[in-house]
This record gives sequence, C-alpha cells and structure tokens, in this order.
Amino acid sequence: MSPEVSILQDALSIELIRRQLSAKTVARQIYLFGEVPSTNDALRHLAKAGAREGTTVLAESQTAGRGRLGKSWFSPFGVNLYASVLFRPAIGPKDAPVFSFIAGLAVADAVRSVGVPAAIKWPNDILVNRKKVAGVLAELATSGDRLDYLILGVGVNLNVESRALHEALGDAGRAAASLRELAGRDIDRNAFAASFLTFLDEWFHVYRDRHAEALLEAWRDRDILTGRRVEVREDGKVFQGRALGVDAEGHLLVEERKGQARQVVAGQVRLLD
Ligand code: BTN
Repeated sequence: MSPEVSILQDALSIELIRRQLSAKTVARQIYLFGEVPSTNDALRHLAKAGAREGTTVLAESQTAGRGRLGKSWFSPFGVNLYASVLFRPAIGPKDAPVFSFIAGLAVADAVRSVGVPAAIKWPNDILVNRKKVAGVLAELATSGDRLDYLILGVGVNLNVESRALHEALGDAGRAAASLRELAGRDIDRNAFAASFLTFLDEWFHVYRDRHAEALLEAWRDRDILTGRRVEVREDGKVFQGRALGVDAEGHLLVEERKGQARQVVAGQVRLLD
C-alpha cells in the first residue's frame, strides 16, 4: 500500500467517528477542519455565535496550538488528536477546575481502552510510564459571576513519531511520548476520537447527575501525585513539598513543611521521586 493510501485511510472522518460514538450531549455537532490556529479558538468563535453545549471541533493540525500556562502545543498534521468541546454548565467560575476533570478522566479512560495504563498528573496531564501523552486546556468565559461557557481542549499524542516529538520539543521531548510508541502499534484515530468523546459524555453526565464528589473520587483513583515529592512553579515562585491530593475545589494541596499545606491553583508540577 502506498503511503498516500494509508494516510487517506487514517484521515479523521466525522462519519467514522459517529459510527463508533455513543453520546447524548458531547459531539451533537462536530466540525472537522484540516488546519486551524487552535481548535479552542475555532470553538470560541462558534460559542460566541450561540453554538449548543456539546459542540465539538476537531482538526488534523493546529498552527498555533496552545498548552497550559502560555506554552505551545506541538500539533503536526494527520497523526494526533486535537479536540475541543463546548460546555455551558450552570456553575460558577470557581467550580470550573473540578468540572475540567471530566476531560482528564475521559482521556485517561480512552488511553486505557487501547491497552495502555494511564495516570493523571494534576490538573489533567495524562502520563504513561511517567511520560506525558496528553494534556487538557480548559478555557472559560464569564458574565459577572456566572460561567457563560467553558471549552475543554484536548491534545493526545497518538501516532506522532518520537523523533518528531523530540525535535519539536527539545529537552522536554524526553518527558513526552506517543501512544503508538507505548502500545507498539498504530492507533486508529477515529476509534480513539469516538472513545474519548463517549467517555467525555459519560463523565459529563456523572458530574451533572451525581455532582462533583463522584468525579473527584474517580479522579483521585487515577492521581499519580498524592504522597509523592513534587516541585511546584507558580507565579514565578518555585517550592518543593509532598503532594497531599486535591481539595473539593480541584486545587492541589502540597505540604511544604510538616503540617503546612499550600494550595496550588494554576502551577506547573514536576515529580521529584
Ligand atoms: C497542556 O498540557 O499544556 C494542554 C495542552 C492542550 C492542547 C489542546 S490541542 C486541542 C486544543 N487546542 C489548543 O490550542 N490546545 C488544546
């Protein structure tokens, strides 16, 4: 088979995703683009124009893919998953961190369903053998103290070559991997997209029906940090301590000195041991 044919067969397809999808809210409407600056940005435009909850944007590549804390997200064409999903939950902005855990849980479950053991590093990094295979960028819009909408953007390294990852990310590439590398076989991107969106829908309904506590419990089951020594970078400051887990608001608690817990709201955390 020529490489062109195999690329075509592996192209993302709304029809192939729909055939394998089971969801009530997520992916009610799917937009698929060849190239966008960022699926989160494309979805933000749709959200402002009144798009319904569950609207999903997928792209084969991003020219300005964004990660947490102002980082960029390497987004080469035709090999990975770049997805953003719109939610309009009736919650306040302070509840958004826990809500965003639905994305981490859904990616972790989709990764596990291809036979690879996945853990979550706060807030929503997905690690396999301590290497990052996926990340979540949650962005919200507010009107006063109300949440107008929330976008959960997910990037998963599916079939990207490890050489490309390392060339693009430099040193940080050593802490990243693709599922293909870890599973030892090509990952079917349409099947993976359908699986992720199905799990996302399930976790969204768990949150809606049983509220944050059920979600937190599931998230804590997959948490890799609790009890481990970590280094935290937040607001230009760096400190070390022992991770104690997440609080009811979804913030990370780190014990810097015996008996003194610090709350981490939006920092970068690195495992030390
Ligand atoms: C992180 O771990 O820093 C978060 C990475 C999130 C990347 C995804 S790819 C789809 C969506 N669009 C973006 O620009 N970013 C997110």
